[in-house]
Amino acid sequence: KILILDFGSQYTQLIARVVREANVFCEIIPYNKTFEFDANLKGIILSGSPCSVNEPDAPNVDIATIADKVPVLGICYGAQLTAKLFGGTVAKSNKREYGRAFLNIINQHILFDGINKSTQVWMSHSDTIKMLPDGFVLLGDTENIPVAAFESNNTTKNPVVGLQFHPEVYHSTEGKKIIDNFLVKICGCKKDWTAAHFISETVAALKIQLGDSKVVMGLSGGVDSTVAATLLHKAIGSNLYGIFVNNGVLRKNEFEEVLEIYKKLGLNVKGVDASELFYNRLAGKTDPEEKRKAIGTSFIDVFDEEATKLTGISYLGQGTIYPDVIESAAVHGPAVTIKSHHNVGGLPEKMKLKIVEPLRSLFKDEVRKIGAELGIPASMLGRHPFPGPGLAIRILGEVTPEKVQLLQDADAVYSDLLKKHQLYDKVWQAGTILLPVKSVGVMGDERTYEFTVALRAVTSVDGMTADWAHLPYEFLAEVSNEIINNVKGINRVVYDISSKPPATIEWE
Ligand code: XMP
Repeated sequence: KILILDFGSQYTQLIARVVREANVFCEIIPYNKTFEFDANLKGIILSGSPCSVNEPDAPNVDIATIADKVPVLGICYGAQLTAKLFGGTVAKSNKREYGRAFLNIINQHILFDGINKSTQVWMSHSDTIKMLPDGFVLLGDTENIPVAAFESNNTTKNPVVGLQFHPEVYHSTEGKKIIDNFLVKICGCKKDWTAAHFISETVAALKIQLGDSKVVMGLSGGVDSTVAATLLHKAIGSNLYGIFVNNGVLRKNEFEEVLEIYKKLGLNVKGVDASELFYNRLAGKTDPEEKRKAIGTSFIDVFDEEATKLTGISYLGQGTIYPDVIESAAVHGPAVTIKSHHNVGGLPEKMKLKIVEPLRSLFKDEVRKIGAELGIPASMLGRHPFPGPGLAIRILGEVTPEKVQLLQDADAVYSDLLKKHQLYDKVWQAGTILLPVKSVGVMGDERTYEFTVALRAVTSVDGMTADWAHLPYEFLAEVSNEIINNVKGINRVVYDISSKPPATIEWE
């Protein structure tokens, strides 16, 4: 395993993904968290940071002690900190360097095996290493900076290498190969982190952890909960009690279709149609946060009631994935809540349940790979993300059953056409939004006065930032036509061309 010490860089998660893609297991921990040097730990990567090593309270770790045990790779801030701690000099650069640069490899090193002598790399720094520590060897420079890569040249027990650029980002053309060389040639990692390996290890561990215990779990029809439930099912069979709640704001036919898939997978899942309750609780509410809270608490009430009917349950299963659990190094204080996401609430305390989360260490794309290996249909694994509060946050203003049906129909037209034109997999998420405005139209010789639907489609990697998808005009024209001709009550379709930030993906 590799540990990544996070100094607060926006790219830390990318480092982890590149390491995982090289089939090596890794974890991110805040730089100031203590950890064990066990036999599994093969190396440490130090991330970048928004800080400067010369600030009075600059985040710091004892690199010399780490290097006594395992090899170290310092990236950007990590490289600067290494240089400074071993006696080199880091200073503000008169040339700030952002974006494209070319690394010239001056001294060959196994880190650069198979890499071109001059290779495109991505920079993002304002400090620069002016002088290397005694005994360290310069490996490469760029047109703008004297030290772009270095190594400790046996002055440390294990190799310490530093890179001023970001090998983890896409635009560092050979960056993945450089990281791979560090993992395999310097740390001696075996590339054995694969989907099949993960499944057999996880199922075996779950069997030991759970024994004859019974587990209750809320399923949502989404990728994460389905994969988590399938792993649990492999380990404990029908001792897994799944609950899938119809909150009345799912997509068209979703409740029935998802239950059918669960059945095919052999999962023990009970479908609970609580639409009425949700509609009652949503009635009269127009404020987005109030709507979200109403759905959150209603879900908890329904789930709690169902779970309490079961006896002898000792665990609550959850589909939590790695991005939800990473504690980022809070170098700039805690992030603010833009929208409240909901979960299962107070159940664990009330029923004295322990939590089991088989996907806690996985990124989304890894969950998909494991799902495929588990035989979950591609149509399920490739589904767009869908928010817990469902269509309720895509119906602006008050939610009524009639509006839900309108939006379900419009959404189904949009999503079917995206699939038909092979665009569904090219966008990260798409959906329709029902606007609370009516406008005048003309159909045949009749005047209409009906609702407007906005189409949203975005490209993104993780939902944190997103761009609006540049869908072809002809396609948008077809969607508009189909919706207006087939969904009675809608006479106008518009396309949302806002990125995130400043907009968000959902409208509420
Ligand atoms: P925003 O609208 O914040 O959405 O740009 C980012 C991603 O999160 C999804 N989303 C949610 N998912 N519960 C969820 O499980 C929620 O309450 C929730 N709100 C937003 C949204 O669909 C997008 O993928």
